[in-house]
Amino acid sequence: MNFELKSLGLQGASTEKCEAMLLLVNDGFKPGTDSMSQLTAQAIKAGDLQTKVGKLLSAYRVHGVSCARLVLVSAGDGSAKSVRQAVAAGVGSLKGGPAKNVTIVFSDAPQRGAVRAAMVAAAEASYAYISTKSKPEARTLQRVVLGVASAPAVKTEFERAQALVAGIELAKEWANRPSNHATPTLLAQAAKSLAKFPKIKCEVLGLAQVKKLGMGSFMAVSQGSAEPLRFIVLKYEAGPKSQAPVVLVGKGITFDTGGISLKPAPEMDEMKFDMSGAASVLGVFRSLGELQPALNVIGLIPACENMPDGRAIKPGDVVTSMSGQTIEILNTDAEGRLVLCDALTYAERFKPRTVIDIATLTGACMIALGGVRSGMFSSDDALAAALLDAGESALDLCWRMPLDDDYAEGLKTHFADVANVAGRAGGAITAAKFLQRFAGKFSWAHLDIAGTAWKGAAAKGATGRPVALLLEYLLAQVTPPEGPGKRVGK
Ligand code: BES
Ligand code: MN
Ligand code: ZN
Repeated sequence: MNFELKSLGLQGASTEKCEAMLLLVNDGFKPGTDSMSQLTAQAIKAGDLQTKVGKLLSAYRVHGVSCARLVLVSAGDGSAKSVRQAVAAGVGSLKGGPAKNVTIVFSDAPQRGAVRAAMVAAAEASYAYISTKSKPEARTLQRVVLGVASAPAVKTEFERAQALVAGIELAKEWANRPSNHATPTLLAQAAKSLAKFPKIKCEVLGLAQVKKLGMGSFMAVSQGSAEPLRFIVLKYEAGPKSQAPVVLVGKGITFDTGGISLKPAPEMDEMKFDMSGAASVLGVFRSLGELQPALNVIGLIPACENMPDGRAIKPGDVVTSMSGQTIEILNTDAEGRLVLCDALTYAERFKPRTVIDIATLTGACMIALGGVRSGMFSSDDALAAALLDAGESALDLCWRMPLDDDYAEGLKTHFADVANVAGRAGGAITAAKFLQRFAGKFSWAHLDIAGTAWKGAAAKGATGRPVALLLEYLLAQVTPPEGPGKRVGK
């Protein structure tokens, strides 16, 4: 998606030549003397433009307006959230029409996050998955111009949002690809191609190296599959050498059949999305590559398939993780935690400031929180607060879940240090308690994105979440350089 930022008042917007224009109209709209303002004021007064967020009035070749297609969209209070809804409706209304370029005009100075919200929503509304279609449909929009009264005032937000959209779209692309087009090997290639950006390096480990590291748990999940596993290590190093990195760990199960604890057939195809955590890590690195913030970030992706086979792990098998802890695999379908635990142990070598894992981990989390908020677990209150904040401002919400030790009772077993499942009750939490055993050496958070990473039914497809949350969190970690503007001393 192509974006451009432009200084454009209502007056300028009236005479702006473009294929289509969306005018975002906030409650309490104050018209100027230009023709577009006048007609908008009249439409509101007559009740033809209702003030509810997302309500539209479409017009064609209006007298005094240079742009042929004009869509007035109510944007309510003008908050980022309302703007997102308004732009989604406005861009949606252009779908199927001839306009490939649109100019989105803010009739008031955009509120914090509103420009980003408009850009993310426009990209979202015009996204089309094409990789495995023989006659790909073109996306509805090629180019979006953002018209604001003062472009310099929102330049930083605009640039960040551009990088964010690129990251979200990369995450969607890989999550959407079917498992035969997104094998661990292909995922590793995608990671490697991110190393074309400055400051990004990528290293990929195969079975021999993973074995040498003692990742017995990760290897166990992969052993029933004909596709070779990959352990992907991405490094973005643009911060001071002395600065401890943030480590992102993404679950990269490229297909989850459940293994010997086989899943039922209906909707099993959706388990191609079980590498959405990994895809979000790729997306974040893409955004970092474009933005080049002064940070150190490591991305770790344990990637493999979970398949039933003569060589596959069986319920009751006990394996030894890289941490030395033994695990009784009571259910081979609880495989995400088995690949993540070894990645968490591997993360120790980076002496991280923070480790965040991102995983489509449990159906239970989907039941608990639905598709609105991701589940967030952390033993570090400051980290939990920062993630919650990042989610709110990026409109990529999460919700903190508990980690009381009593929840770990069900993971006890006579046959190993820990079992990989407890009962059905509190399934998202017991999964997090399992992971916590491997995250004792650093500040850690776990994002369960089972409900938020993709949509099912008619809208089936990846959402690109939680790239926005993660990028927002990371950018908030950049310490501003000392210098003019920042007072030192008193
Ligand atoms: N990838 C699934 C989680 C999942 C299921 C995400 C449905 C989205 C929709 C995960 O590997 C899994 O199978 N989890 C099991 C755990 C259970 C066996 C304790 C689950 O949630 O049923
Ligand atoms: Mn599973
Ligand atoms: Zn899974």
